[in-house]
Amino acid sequence: MSIERVGILTSGGDCPGLNAVIRAVVLSAHQRGWEVLGIEDATEGLIDLEVRAPHGNRVLTPTLVDAILDRGGTLIGTSNSADPFHYFGHRGSEERESDVSAKVVENYHRLELDALIWVGGDGSMRIAQRLIERGLAIVGVPKTIDLDLGGTDYTIGFHTAVQTATSAIDRLQDTAASHDRLMIVEVMGRDAGFVALHSALAGGAHICLIPEIPYRLEPVVERIQKRRDDGLLFSIAVVAEGAAPSGVAPTYAETGEAGGMPKLFGAGSRMAAALDPMLPLEVRVSVLGHIQRGGSPTEFDRILGTRLGVAAVEAVADGAFGSMVALQTPNIGRVSINEAIAVPRRVDPAGQLVEAARAIGIEMGS
Ligand code: F6P
Repeated sequence: MSIERVGILTSGGDCPGLNAVIRAVVLSAHQRGWEVLGIEDATEGLIDLEVRAPHGNRVLTPTLVDAILDRGGTLIGTSNSADPFHYFGHRGSEERESDVSAKVVENYHRLELDALIWVGGDGSMRIAQRLIERGLAIVGVPKTIDLDLGGTDYTIGFHTAVQTATSAIDRLQDTAASHDRLMIVEVMGRDAGFVALHSALAGGAHICLIPEIPYRLEPVVERIQKRRDDGLLFSIAVVAEGAAPSGVAPTYAETGEAGGMPKLFGAGSRMAAALDPMLPLEVRVSVLGHIQRGGSPTEFDRILGTRLGVAAVEAVADGAFGSMVALQTPNIGRVSINEAIAVPRRVDPAGQLVEAARAIGIEMGS
């Protein structure tokens, strides 16, 4: 099959490193003489070809992507609420849910795309798989700060999010130490504790609570007390937004969804409220939130994004549709999208990272 025109879209929550992928796809496709069409706002640009916000679908030239490598966000926009199989209108503006997947397939052909490079996380790859089954020639590229997608060692954005969280922990440690406080730092990650665990290790936290290990407060209190007995009057606790006490559900916002799922909100505050009466020190909470999704990508994410973008173009040239390019250290390989989404990826509570954390005295809450 000869390739002339390839589409690219970014789908799901944004993350640093997406522009590195877009740039690499455009530059390497250009060298092969292909045209690259940027699809605006994830599948929105395939559901409605007239989509305007903010640029509309457009041809991406090497000039256009020349200076985006160091920029967070995504040049072509994204959405984590544009599932064409359960669609509620552009940016959720219409009330009624409908299946507009046939429209996506029709518009893919109207745009005369020979292939589509689909940059997404777990939820987006599930949508991609359903469209592959309807005949679309898709190659996946893994991105998400949550690292909850299988088949790849790392996803684009994770490394930068961990660095952002780590540098926040460093700063919070300064003020916690000055005031002899417990500082609770709530980080993102949905149902996976990778951002929390990695940033707790990198930031030298004393407590780390993750969704994969339901927690009890007693060992947390003991850890803080032991530090105080040793003359260390402050403590740092990193709490994943999906962490919850044993036998209790995570905390959710009263309104709003995140990627078609209830919005996690309040894990840090809940923990603070419960701990406050049990401790002889002041407790403060910092919720890092979407700060972890923005900013300039780390060198790791720039290089990973570039390598995955180049590999996605190669996969299109090879006709390897239905596959996702993936970091299989030290190489970039391919897995089937089906394989990548088969099992939700989570921190292994008995794995080496948790073991290492426990070995240096990080209290995991159980
Ligand atoms: O999946 C990425 C992520 O940032 C999660 O860590 C978080 O729970 C969610 O997206 C937030 O989504 P939204 O941008 O819709 O608030």
